[in-house]
This record gives sequence, C-alpha cells and structure tokens, in this order.
Amino acid sequence: MDKKQIQELIRTAVEQLAYAYVPYSHFRVGAALLAKNGTVYRGCNIENAAYTPSNCAERTAFFKAVSEGVKEFSAICVVGGRNGEVTEYTPPCGVCRQVMMEFCDPEEFEIVLATDTEHYQVFRLKELLPMGFGPGNLAETQN
Ligand code: THU
Repeated sequence: MDKKQIQELIRTAVEQLAYAYVPYSHFRVGAALLAKNGTVYRGCNIENAAYTPSNCAERTAFFKAVSEGVKEFSAICVVGGRNGEVTEYTPPCGVCRQVMMEFCDPEEFEIVLATDTEHYQVFRLKELLPMGFGPGNLAETQN
C-alpha cells in the first residue's frame, strides 16, 4: 500500500469510532478492512452486558466481509482509545489475530496501527502472530 491508501484506511477506521458500542469499557475501537477486490469493510467493537459475547472491531469487519462472500484481504487498519481519544496504538487481540490467520497470508497481510494519518506503523501478520496455526496445518498433504 502506498501512503495515500494507508491514510484513507486510517480515516475510515477513525470514522468507525463513532459507532463503537462500548457502555462497559468505554474503549472505542474502529477497523477498516481492505479486501483484494478493493472494497473496504468497516467494523467497530460491540460489547454486551454478559461481557463474553462482546466482539472486537476487527472481527466485526471480517465477519461482515465473509458473510457477503468476500474472503481475500490485503490489509486492515485498527485505531482505538478510551472515550474515542486515540493516543496509543491498539494492537489486535489474540483472537482477532487468529481470525486473520484463517483468511490471510501471514507473509502478505498488512496491519496498520495508527494514532492519526501522520502517525502509523505497518506490520505483517507474521510479525504479530509468529508461527501461527492456520488452515495449512490441517491439510492432509502436510508432513
Ligand atoms: N477491542 C477491539 O475491538 N479490538 C482490539 O484490537 C482490542 C480490544 C475491544 C474489545 C472491548 O470492547 C474493548 O476493546 C476493550 O477491551
């Protein structure tokens, strides 16, 4: 991705902060997931009074895409902060990294962590989930 594309993804993720449903943590997270076909799927975190059914912004975006038949992705941007004030990077939780591992090539898929359009860092999934377990590990031809 070039800088313009990254900044566009950051802007979209920041817009999503407004939709976060966070009455318990007050920690708003927004995600923008770029599919290989060019479509951007948006996500926010959605909490629940029973706590465990809460869903992260990243998974909201992935599940929206997959539920519409889209399963190939090139990048995701994640932003977050208490009361929507983005002062630090919000790295994806372990569960979200595992969901990325299901659909994305760990050597290719890019994860953009940002505080604003001028302050960001781009990681590959492999860096954030080294030696991850994925669909390939279940393939019959393995070993
Ligand atoms: N959260 C996300 O949505 N994505 C992350 O990458 C980290 C955590 C959410 C879950 C919960 O609603 C809130 O942030 C506090 O953990």
